[in-house]
Amino acid sequence: MDSNNIRNFSIIAHIDHGKSTLADQIMTLTHTVDQRSAKPQLLDNMAVEQQHGVTVKAQTVTNFFIAKDNQRYALNLIDTPGHVDFSYEVSKSLAATEGVILLVDATQGVQAQTVANFNLAKAQNIKILPVINKIDSLNADVAMVKQQILELDVDFSDSDILEVSAKHGTGVENLLEEIIQRIPMPKLDHSVSGLKALVFDLSYDNYQGIIAHVRLFSGELRANQKLHLMHADKKFESKTIGIFNPNMVEKDALHAGEVGFVVTGIKETDQIRVGDTITTQSSGALEPLRGYEAAHPVVYAGIFPKDDFLTMKSALFKIALNDSSLSIEEDYSDALGPGFRVGFLGNFHLQIIRERLKSEYDLEVITTSPNVTYKVHLKNAQLLAINNPINFPDFSDIDYVEEPVVTVQITTLPETVNQVINLSEKYKGILTDLNNLSNLVQLTYDMPLSEIAYHFFNALKSETHGYATLSMGKIVYQPADIVKITFDINYSRVPQLTYLTHRIDANNEAQALVHKLKYTVPRQLYPMPAQAIIEGHVIARVDIPPIRKNAAVSGDKKSISKQQVLLRRQSLNKRKSKQLTFELPQSVFDIFLEI
Ligand code: GTP
Repeated sequence: MDSNNIRNFSIIAHIDHGKSTLADQIMTLTHTVDQRSAKPQLLDNMAVEQQHGVTVKAQTVTNFFIAKDNQRYALNLIDTPGHVDFSYEVSKSLAATEGVILLVDATQGVQAQTVANFNLAKAQNIKILPVINKIDSLNADVAMVKQQILELDVDFSDSDILEVSAKHGTGVENLLEEIIQRIPMPKLDHSVSGLKALVFDLSYDNYQGIIAHVRLFSGELRANQKLHLMHADKKFESKTIGIFNPNMVEKDALHAGEVGFVVTGIKETDQIRVGDTITTQSSGALEPLRGYEAAHPVVYAGIFPKDDFLTMKSALFKIALNDSSLSIEEDYSDALGPGFRVGFLGNFHLQIIRERLKSEYDLEVITTSPNVTYKVHLKNAQLLAINNPINFPDFSDIDYVEEPVVTVQITTLPETVNQVINLSEKYKGILTDLNNLSNLVQLTYDMPLSEIAYHFFNALKSETHGYATLSMGKIVYQPADIVKITFDINYSRVPQLTYLTHRIDANNEAQALVHKLKYTVPRQLYPMPAQAIIEGHVIARVDIPPIRKNAAVSGDKKSISKQQVLLRRQSLNKRKSKQLTFELPQSVFDIFLEI
């Protein structure tokens, strides 16, 4: 199709403002899906999304529309994820578009994620169409919401703002006309004649291998074409190519400006990454597209399979295909066997991956306590980067430790500002700026990354009833007093429970953790002490009581001396063993996520 008749756009919104409903309505109106087969929320098709009610992985669909000018247009809608932890996915999708619909709920107004998403789009310098949704609702206050939108950006004017009911379809046809009028036709790269296609998403099919979702900036893409992935420096031949409509529809060729898929035939999931540029092997482009900034993992945790290592390896790499922020390295633990050290964007991300392993691949895993990367300066002048607490050196060798500190911007409602300030102080935040927007307040803090990555995010969400958003900026390293807490259960060290924390929190956390161990470690026939140790000193201890069915107290008619022999044998046997003789369930490792 002529690129004059193509528009590439995304919808961005606060959670529940109606993004999926609008996407469905657009697909119905353009007959991409017919009314009868339209399942609610066609784009949210991952099991995890349905449980959490948020969009995690972006999906794409081409809608054909005959506009008032009697011309046929391809409107490529690139769905974006709705969770703040996934803002990197939003920027990823935006790199393939020239514009966005900024959707705002008429009953709720501009919310924290509206602002965060608006800022992402603004930073990418793409066209923003403000649209008010749910105008059918009795609680809609369109005038007030308009005012809030106008205050977001001086470039908006009253007549720019569109009004729709995604649910009933009111105003949606007009919205499509406005998309054609106001969102620019695809920007093309005229500097080259050859093919340049941006890989903005990837999916995996058991029969066809990796499917790259692409946006062409120049040239032409065909089936059975000899292609080259520029960053990965990998050669392959395209199998089939085509568009999403909404299912995969084969085409002979894709042209500059168009959005579609390439079946690569590549099966090795570690060879292709989102953000790469595809060109042709002969007379191809010399420079790859700029892509977008890759997200860097900030939290690392061990993930160990309960059953088969290889099955888990293949599942993890398939997930990593369209989740470029995951980093995966093989790891080995004496207690848990072979597994992985995986980097995440935060604890919520970790949770999502764990659930995807369960729901999409039916895999149960053990995840160990999450950690950021510390810089450890040793007395012998060596510098170590530590993201696995097991590798944290002995305190006698350490000169000083630096921890990552991040600038965070929190956007919230005025009535929750006090709670946010108290909470941020509790999590060692230092307030550096405070800004009043029309109906929202923006606070800027410097805060240890560990606080944000582990617990602050959840605490903030619960204090503000899910309202506040948090966006992370620059990370710098600053000296911090970090100590290692190790745990012994029944006098044997359990390395996988090793935990790093600030010294001033160490005592309280160690107490809390051993108390949780009391209720999560499977009881044995004998009592077992659980001890937390810092720098050679036991700082907290509880006794994990035995299960009642003890040979000596079970009421069996045995002589007292026999009972005593049994008891002694039970406890001595266990005390001698260097390693635990039983497996620890995931609930034991989860205590680190809970404190
Ligand atoms: P996330 O995927 O979690 O970000 O949500 P979303 O933004 O995709 O919202 P979704 O489309 O799931 O809509 C949220 C709720 O608002 C649903 O219950 C919809 O039925 C309702 N809704 C969406 N659009 C309209 C509308 O135009 N009018 C009314 N009254 N309700 C709407």
